[in-house]
Formats: sequence, C-alpha cells, structure tokens
Amino acid sequence: MSDHVIAVLPGDGTGKEVAVEAQRILDTIQEHTNHGFEQTVIPCGGQHYLATGEEWGEGSFEFCRDDADAIFMGAIGYPGAWLPNGDLAGGSVILGMRSGLDLYANVRPIRLYEGVPHKVHGRFTNIWDPDMVNMVILRENTEGLYHSLLHRSAQRAKGLEGYEPPEMEFPGLHGEVAYDPRPISAHGSERLIKMGFDICNTRSGAPVDGVSRVSCIDKSNVTRGCQLFRRTFDTVAGSYSNIEKDYGYIDAFTQWLTRTPEFYDVVVTSNMFGDIATDLASVLQGGMGMAASGNIGDDHAFFEPVHGSAPKHAGQNKVNPIASINSVQMMLDWLARRSNDDDLLEVSKILDQSVAEHLKDGSSLTYDLGGTASCTDVGTSIASRLATHLKER
Ligand code: IPM
Ligand code: MN
Repeated sequence: MSDHVIAVLPGDGTGKEVAVEAQRILDTIQEHTNHGFEQTVIPCGGQHYLATGEEWGEGSFEFCRDDADAIFMGAIGYPGAWLPNGDLAGGSVILGMRSGLDLYANVRPIRLYEGVPHKVHGRFTNIWDPDMVNMVILRENTEGLYHSLLHRSAQRAKGLEGYEPPEMEFPGLHGEVAYDPRPISAHGSERLIKMGFDICNTRSGAPVDGVSRVSCIDKSNVTRGCQLFRRTFDTVAGSYSNIEKDYGYIDAFTQWLTRTPEFYDVVVTSNMFGDIATDLASVLQGGMGMAASGNIGDDHAFFEPVHGSAPKHAGQNKVNPIASINSVQMMLDWLARRSNDDDLLEVSKILDQSVAEHLKDGSSLTYDLGGTASCTDVGTSIASRLATHLKER
C-alpha cells in the first residue's frame, strides 16, 4: 500500500473540466490497486481572483510545498483577470510554483499516437507514420525571459514583497521603455541539460535512426545567455559519450522540427524558446489536446496539460482530456521512480497503454481529433479500459 497526497488545482475554464478526468484516473487506480491517492482540490486562478480577491487561498502554496507529494494543475487564465501591477491573475499558482518550488525543467513529450491525425495542414490525414514523432522537449523553467515575472510570482505566492528588475540604461532609446531581462545561469542550464541527457538514456533513440541524441537549441549566434547555455551543454555532454550531440538555432529549428521530426530524440532549450517551440510541436502530435507536461525539480513536481483555459470552449464539455490524462501518467512515472515503486511504474505504463489503445480504436474522440465525443466520454472510456487492464493483472 502506498499513499500519495495529490494537490489538484483545477484553475480556470476548461482546466476545471479536464481536472475532473485527471481525478477520475487517480480514483480508478485507487479502486483497482493498492495505490491510494488523497486528493485535495484547491480552487485557484483568474476567475477565483475576480470573485475573492485572491489567486488562491492562504496557505495553498505551503500545502503544495510541504504536504503534497505531487501536484496536478488544469489551466490558469480568465478573460479580464489581471492584477493591479499588470501581471496575469493566477500567476502565483503556475509561475509561483515553477519558481518557488524550483521546478527547473519543464518536460514536454511530443509523441504521435497511432490513430491520431497530426495537424500540420489542418486536415484529418497523415503524412507521417505515428512512430516518426517521438521526442521530449525540455524547457528551462526558472530563468530566461520569464525570470522577473517568475520571481515576482513566487514572492507573491509566499506572501512576500514583489520584485522588479533594477533600473537600466538603454543607450539610443527614447521615451518610455519596457524591458524584461533574460538572465541565464550556468547552474540553471547545467541541471536542465543534465536532466535532458539522463532522460535520453531511458529512451530508445530518435525515430529516424535509433541514435540517442540530445539537441541543444539556442540562439548563440546572437545572445550571450545562449552562448553560456551552449558552452554548458558541451561540458555536460562530456560525461555522456554514448549520446550524440546536436546543435541548432531556434529559428532554423522550427523549420527542421516540422520538416523532419523523426530526427529528434531529446531537445534542451531556454524558457521562452521552449514555450513557443512546444506549442508548435503540439501540432505534430495532434494538437494541444494531446500535449502533456511536467514541471520538475529535485524535490517537487507539478503536472499540467500544455493547453490553456480555452475560455471559448469552457462549460461545453468538449475539450480533449488526454493532455491531462497523459500528464497524470507522467506524474505516476515520476512518483514511482522517486520511491522505487516498480508496481506504480507498471501502473503508469498500463495507463499509457490504455490511452494508446483508446486512440487506436478511434471510436470515442473529441472534436479536435475529428470525433464528436465529449470530454467526459473520452475520460470515462479511458478509465474503464484502464480498470479492465488493472483487474486482469
Ligand atoms: C505554458 C503557458 C504559460 C507560460 C503561461 C500561462 C504563463 O503558456 O505553460 O506554456 O507562458 O509558460
Ligand atoms: Mn505556453
């Protein structure tokens, strides 16, 4: 019997709907195995802020830090919900945890399942075999262009004073100037890149040739931060002689990513580049409804679908819950590896198998994948397939 305390942060809009399906998966596992999940739901987000004046209740950050074994988040963002200082209302939750819990790696797997149409040209047809898209992009998650906002959000989550970058001079600029510093540290880069190489060692290489490969994606022809990132990459790579090193500039990478996704195995990159590249990459895996993620540090982790709160779809029970269900799969994998729990690791693999079978079957798909099923239909169907497999063990 292993019991895990899970903080569930549904957030805004469709985040609330997909969180229900994430919880259904945890309940199903609890029902059919010895693994227990004590789920604590914490209301939060922009809408919550408009209603209560708080992004989340007092003590929520501390609960996530001190009491939860892992955290699940739906999505943050509500139309018109901004803080008086201009920051996103709900930012304390998502950005505050990324920075405040030191979750330095945003791990985003990009995999095209059999039965899922990629979205490169918006038609429900495939030009690739599913096994041609199978990579993981690691986005640095605590510094870069987000640094000031992250730090400010974490301070707020801890009930401390905000943070503004120091005054700077910009020669040649006149009138009002707004700027976001983009600090990149050797330490922050090193731990992210190292995790990328370690993840690479658990995989079976790039689809095109089976070669284990880590690609360093930066703009080191232009920025000093990226030069430091690339130098750090070379240093870390020295300890992984079995893994091929690859380099690309972010602009050219977007082209290669869409033309030859089969070349990529693991990609490491800085914060904003990773934010942009993973939305683009989601197109290769069937869209944002399929994109899962984990915000991972040495001591904490939170898992969330990459998509936002999608206000225009909210309240209609129509969005795809698979990004959330796969985020739960990542959570189980992370919990299992941390506690050397082979049985939980097996359960996480059975969940992945259940999702893969569901998609291959293709009879219950949401609108984004060409179907007419509801969010609840897909969630309950995957949960019942999972229950069947768990009972068969
Ligand atoms: C993401 C989102 C967030 C980000 C927003 C909601 C602040 O786009 O998780 O990718 O920019 O990181
Ligand atoms: Mn994003």
